[in-house]
Amino acid sequence: MALVITVAQQKGGSGKTSVAAHLACAWAGRQLNGSARKLVLIDLDPQESLTTWFRLREEKLGPDANIALKPASGWRATSEIQRAGRDADIIIVDSPPQSETSTRIAIRAADIIIVPCQLSPLDVWASRPILEMIARENRSALVVLNRVPARANHAEELVSQLKRDRVPLARAALGNRVAFTASLMEGLGVVESDPHSVAAAEIRLLASEVLRKVA
Ligand SMILES: Nc1ncnc2c1ncn2[C@@H]1O[C@H](COP(=O)(O)OP(=O)(O)OP(=O)(O)O)[C@@H](O)[C@H]1O
Ligand SMILES: [Mg+2]
Repeated sequence: MALVITVAQQKGGSGKTSVAAHLACAWAGRQLNGSARKLVLIDLDPQESLTTWFRLREEKLGPDANIALKPASGWRATSEIQRAGRDADIIIVDSPPQSETSTRIAIRAADIIIVPCQLSPLDVWASRPILEMIARENRSALVVLNRVPARANHAEELVSQLKRDRVPLARAALGNRVAFTASLMEGLGVVESDPHSVAAAEIRLLASEVLRKVA
């Protein structure tokens, strides 16, 4: 059975779709432990950003041997996720902002839930409901700080506050980097478009950390 990794956060624009796409490319490539994995993407967000990125990818690169997109929506999502697990090593589910039902389904089905969060008190506070939902569903969360600015005086204080509150914070964090956005515009992940960049190194660290957590 495939690993199911859901990316969820009720706060819009926190980086769910970006994290989903970049992680998919990292896991599907051979740069992590030399073994490419078979990925299935499931886009539960009616905005369909992950779907749009994947279609663009197909247009540019042709059919992808290692990444597929499977349709799923609403109440059917649970069985679609189970079915996708038959021919994948990893399923990544991207979820919409503020949608109780499909987010709950995606959390319930997941081995781990990645919660991207920007490094601002407002975003940290806005993460509480999703962390509570994950706890209620008895699932493990991994909060990933995203768009971390190069210099921020408040950053250390906020991180220690998160640690004091026992928020399950990933060691890997993602900086605020143009490379993340630029590669998505090309239908690529940053590990493909700019493999030697800091952004790619950050994604590879996160990809390895997530796999270690679920191992
Ligand atoms: N680490 C980063 N560095 C620079 N830009 C980023 C980074 N992460 C995300 N972005 C940009 O932030 C915006 C929001 O990202 P994204 O669409 O992935 O968030 P989301 O949580 O999926 O949003 P929604 O809630 O609408 O689904 C996008 O323009 C994206 O390119
Ligand atoms: Mg999104």
